[in-house]
Amino acid sequence: MTLAPTTILYEGKAKQVYATADADWVVLRFKDDATAFNGVKKASIGDKGAINCRISAHLLTLVAEAGVPTAFAKVLNGRDQLFRRVEIVPVEVVVRNVVAGGFAKKLGRAEGERLARPIVEHFYKSDALNDPQINEDAAIVMGWASAWELACMRERALQVNDVLKAFWDARGIDLIDFKLEFGRAGGAILLADEITPDGSRLWERGTGRHLDKDVFRRDLGDLGDTYRELYQRVFGTEYRAE
Ligand code: CDP
Repeated sequence: MTLAPTTILYEGKAKQVYATADADWVVLRFKDDATAFNGVKKASIGDKGAINCRISAHLLTLVAEAGVPTAFAKVLNGRDQLFRRVEIVPVEVVVRNVVAGGFAKKLGRAEGERLARPIVEHFYKSDALNDPQINEDAAIVMGWASAWELACMRERALQVNDVLKAFWDARGIDLIDFKLEFGRAGGAILLADEITPDGSRLWERGTGRHLDKDVFRRDLGDLGDTYRELYQRVFGTEYRAE
């Protein structure tokens, strides 16, 4: 396949989606932009797009090898990836292994408490509403996803959790939580978005040091340095721009 990006279909906070000459395929372009609090806080972080592009390709390949169908096809260049075109399910799926972030705040618990088993949560994908938490019943009754799709997403999300937990564990990192998005294509449910430190919490084992976008959200240091360090942990080599 030699599919080049043509017109822009959608501009997100950290990515752009382009059409290609083939209606079944789109190009995802990773931007250097970092945002937090639904776009209220913004910055451009050098290398972030390229690092996320490579990390996401690596992790999506791993989960696909483990049997989770994904829309990811291949990396086209330093920032672009070819994806199967899907209809995004407007329900974000979060998996939590350890209490952190919004969950800690909502329940008045300290961050860092390990959960007895992973918790799967659902959020309605809506920037205008700040992605409110919903349950499966609401998703079904409001017509955002079917019961079968929700069951499928839950099972896949837990499978992805097993793969990612083992992957980060081998690199001295605890996978605290992460968010996934799925899409529909040809009657199937595919993992349809990036897996990056933008949408995951990754804490260095032992120290609890944040190796994810919380460094930006919480002003804990330089996000570019953090992502370069994570790159080194993932690939065992220093990040070099192409
Ligand atoms: O990040 P925040 O505390 O607002 O929300 P959370 O529900 O605690 O986030 C759980 C996980 O999902 C974290 O790893 C976030 O980075 C990720 N997330 C995301 O990628 N996009 C969102 N809109 C919300 C959460």
